[in-house]
Amino acid sequence: MTATLDFGGRTVVVIGGTSGINRGIALEFARHGARVAVASRSPEKVEDTVAALNRAGAETATGAAFDVRDAAAVADGLASFHDELGDFEVLVSGAAGNFPALAAEMSVNAFRTVIEIDLLGTVHVMKAAYPFLKRPGASVINISAPQSYLPYEGQAHVCAAKAGVDQITRTLALEWGPEGIRVNSVVPGFIDGTEGAERLAPTDKARAGVLADIPLGRLGSLADMANICLFLGSDLAGYVSGTVIAVDGALYQRGSGRLGQMLGQMLRAAPEAG
Ligand code: HXC
Ligand code: NAP
Repeated sequence: MTATLDFGGRTVVVIGGTSGINRGIALEFARHGARVAVASRSPEKVEDTVAALNRAGAETATGAAFDVRDAAAVADGLASFHDELGDFEVLVSGAAGNFPALAAEMSVNAFRTVIEIDLLGTVHVMKAAYPFLKRPGASVINISAPQSYLPYEGQAHVCAAKAGVDQITRTLALEWGPEGIRVNSVVPGFIDGTEGAERLAPTDKARAGVLADIPLGRLGSLADMANICLFLGSDLAGYVSGTVIAVDGALYQRGSGRLGQMLGQMLRAAPEAG
């Protein structure tokens, strides 16, 4: 098998691929000539992203608007991608919701909402995609978060959901490995200019606190996230499966760090901030 970063003739599906990190990943695969499909709730964001994918050089680009909480809609959407583009060589599952809220003050529905988007949404995507994954050779990439293995105040819902996502990754690597399907998680650090970063560190002081904790001395970029996915999606990573890969400038070797405490302090000082 020759390892290549030419994705011509290969199908890449990115769920939640219409903004931020996931859109950056979809665009990078388009620049490498892939057939790319993206999905998220907003038809406008889907349309805008498909146009951007075409401009970036995708062999073909398509999209669909659906909510990952709706299992039937996910199944229909992925079936339509398969009809249009063929078997999936790469599947990126990254739809997520997040807001800071202390557990005692969060409604049950607020907790449920994040579990339904991040964790159940991942289940829906994995189950719906399974029949369409290329065998052997498919690479499944779940977009996780450091909350999977580090506790942050104000993030009980996200910590629970992303820990579940990573255990799905590890389990599916066992179940699907014999069919030649690789399954991995990527854990972004603190990625500059994204919705997630803005929600968790909305002030200059908070951002400076995060930056001071990063051993490599800079925030992460969309390119950092796209590059790891390009590697995982390629044959260069042909023996990599069942892993959770942090791309974070070593930030989380410090543990939960300043961010893990700042959110709690922010929410206790101004409860309406959550
Ligand atoms: C407390 C909140 C809340 C908040 C919503 N809720 N926002 N509770 N504090 N700030 C509660 C609502 O009151 C409601 O509960 C329940 O959550 C559902 O809210 P809805 O607005 O009806 O949900 P919905 O329209 O489905 O929107 C989902 C969402 C929203 C998650 C709330 O923010 C969203 O669509 N987010 C997508 C984009 C996003 O979050 N991107 C960041 C991903 S970054 P009640 O009881 O009132 O019914 C990430 C990790 C970043 O995941 C890590 C960085 C290091
Ligand atoms: P973002 O820009 O808000 O991207 C989230 C994407 O998911 C959007 O395309 C959104 O589009 C879609 N989405 C949200 N809810 C959905 C739903 N219910 N059904 C279908 N699609 C849905 O966020 P981001 O900050 O780039 O984060 C992207 C991923 O990286 C997430 O998995 C997040 O947990 C992870 N992460 C981010 C950071 C960071 O620094 N930003 C750090 C660690 C982990 P619609 O609004 O159209 O639905």
